[in-house]
This record gives sequence, C-alpha cells and structure tokens, in this order.
Amino acid sequence: MKIAVLRETLEGERRVAATPETVKKFMALGANVAVEAGAGATASIADADYAAVGATVADRAATLAGAEIVLGVQGPSADALAGVAPGAWLVAGLNPFADRARIDGYAAAGLEALAMEFMPRITRAQSMDILSSQSNLAGYKAVLDAAGVYGRAFPMMMTAAGTVSAARVFVMGVGVAGLQAIATARRLGAQVSATDVRSATREQIQSLGAKPIFVENVAGIEGEGSGGYAGEMSPEYQAAQAELVSGHIAKQDIVITTALIPGRPAPRLISAAQVASMKPGSVIVDLAVEAGGNVEGAVAGEVVVVNGVSIVGYRNVASRLAADASALFSRNLYNFLNAFWDKEAGKPVLDAEIGDAIRLTQGGKVVNARLLG
Ligand code: NAI
Repeated sequence: MKIAVLRETLEGERRVAATPETVKKFMALGANVAVEAGAGATASIADADYAAVGATVADRAATLAGAEIVLGVQGPSADALAGVAPGAWLVAGLNPFADRARIDGYAAAGLEALAMEFMPRITRAQSMDILSSQSNLAGYKAVLDAAGVYGRAFPMMMTAAGTVSAARVFVMGVGVAGLQAIATARRLGAQVSATDVRSATREQIQSLGAKPIFVENVAGIEGEGSGGYAGEMSPEYQAAQAELVSGHIAKQDIVITTALIPGRPAPRLISAAQVASMKPGSVIVDLAVEAGGNVEGAVAGEVVVVNGVSIVGYRNVASRLAADASALFSRNLYNFLNAFWDKEAGKPVLDAEIGDAIRLTQGGKVVNARLLG
C-alpha cells in the first residue's frame, strides 16, 4: 500500500496533508509513504523531516506512481493527478459544491474521491472532522486579525496616563469557530457578546463569560437543522434578527461573523446600513466571505474600509496558521484511515455510514446523494 502526499497548488494554500508524525503512524500500519518535494515548506516542515521518518521524497510524477491513496488538503484538478491508477482514493477537503467539473474529472479518471468535509457529525467521527479542527483555528485567528487592524487595545488598562476601555466584541454564529473566537477575545480582555440561531448555543456563550444576544418570541426560532447544523430562517425571524442586531452593532468595536448553512450561500447578517452605523475605527471580520459573506461589502481576499470601518475578508484563514492547521488536518486524515484499516487487506475498508457520506465518485460515476439530489 502506497500513500502519496501532494504539495498543494492552490494559490494561498500553505497547509500540508501529512506531517512527519502521521507519516510515521502510516508506516507503522504497514504503508509506504511518498511525499512530493516541498510539500511541507509553507507549514515549516522540511523535506528532510519527512525523509528522516522514512518517507520517500520525490517529484509529483514519482510520488503519484503506484499510489493507492492520495492525500491532499484541497482537491487538485484531475489533470494534476495524471498517472494515478483507477480505483485509487483521493482523500482531501474537496469543496464538493464549489466546482462540479473538477468532481466529474475525478469520476472520469476512475478515482474514488472522498470528501472529508462530508464526514458525518457523529461521535465516533469527531477525531476525523476537518471542519471542526480548521474552524477552531480560524476562529482564533479571526480575533487576532481583528486586533491587528484595530487601532486600539482589547483589554481595559488603568495607567498613570488614564484608562483605556475594553473593546466590545460581538460574535455572530457560535459554532466551532465562533466559540473559539469568543474564548480568544475573552482571553485578550474584551467585553464579548454573541448570537446564533440555534438556541442551544445560549448556555455555551454564557459559560465562556460572554453575553447572549438572542431573538425572542418569534415563531420558529429553533434554528437547528439536521446534523447539528443551522437551517434557513423564516422571513419573520430574519426581520426580528436584523432589528436586534441593528441596535447592538452600533455600539460594538469588533464584529466577527462565522455563520454558515451547509450547501447554501452564507446568510446575510450585516447590511451596508448597519456597517455605516458603526464608529470609525471599528473592525468586522467576515469568516464566511468565501461562502458569499455574512457582511454586505465584504470582499474575499481583501480588507475593505467603508466610512472608517474595516471589513476583513481574508480567504482560507486556517491556512494562515499553517503549521498547527496542518498538524490537526493531518491527524484527522490519519484518524480516519486508521479507524478503517483492515490488517488482513493491508488497507482501509470503509463502512456504509461513513463511506456513503463522504464518497463522491466511484467506478467512473458521481455517486454522492448530496451531489445527485
Ligand atoms: P457552521 O460552520 O455550519 O456554522 C457556524 C454557526 O453559524 C453555527 O453555529 C450556525 O448555527 C450559525 N448560523 C447559521 N445561520 C445563522 C444566522 N442566520 N444567524 C446567526 N447564526 C447563524 O457550524 P459548525 O461550527 O460547523 O458547528 C455546527 C454544530 O455542529 C455545532 O453545534 C457544533 O458543536 C456541532 N458539531 C458536532 C460535531 C460532532 O458531533 N462530530 C463536530 C463539530 C461540530
């Protein structure tokens, strides 16, 4: 069994899908591992570090030749996988809804493409969940990015020259990223409030020492959709939420938005008028910018300044912490393959619950229900 680890080619992608730690573990399972030269460079891992644990470091063609499993952070084009034998697995974050032609390319090449972001949110798969591991880091980094742009301090400081007041931080969307953003802003000494459509988050917000801001008395406020994710809200709810947020947002210094709805564009949470109501010098970080954005006027890959309010729209925020993001992503991939490793077969064999959820292509066809439905 040969496992290939690719050097990422997408612009701005600094992560890598295996670290020397996980290479060693794959080898302990009996696999050979080939790593494309330079794969770890942007995550501070040298080729020599991979070689030191027994991996072969080679160019792309030699890395892919004979590979039965190809690991990536993001999905390369099928052309970039030329030479991989039909039936081989491609295991990566494949962003399945974004680029159907690329997925069709995997099918045409006979690959079995496994999308790690489709991992079901069940207890036994938690250690395989790339969305959680990467969102957690993104939530942390979003607060640091805000602090970097903000021309004031986060904590209250009482000095001989006078008092600096604490920054007010408002977190919208309290999933994995939002919870980490709350915790990080609190650690920096900010006064934090937060909101979500899922009422279960109210207690989580409080337990982190932040203030919950919730729409009350509107029919259908239980925003819980399937699998722990949010669903789309009713027009009544959206109107009540907009009014509540308008009153609150004008008093905030920093807003971090993280709201996503799987398979849909991100919900619009902040209008241009609400941005205009904020004080000059305020900062908004839109973590959903690549999914269409929670904030009107946010631009992916840019920091836009509107009336003195900065709207930060960095792409691929987890990749900005490439070393830690790679370490966690790599463990997610290892935990997944290891959980299904069949010692007799010398390779992983998936069960239906997880296999059917994450398998996009097989036998030359697109087979995933979420892409066919
Ligand atoms: P996500 O990234 O899909 O969305 C982020 C947050 O935005 C969610 O909390 C969502 O409710 C919220 N949101 C959506 N629309 C909104 C709106 N209009 N206004 C305000 N907020 C809005 O969610 P994430 O971070 O992936 O987590 C979702 C849930 O799944 C959480 O409860 C998390 O604890 C749970 N989870 C369970 C796992 C497991 O059991 N294996 C693993 C990871 C997360």
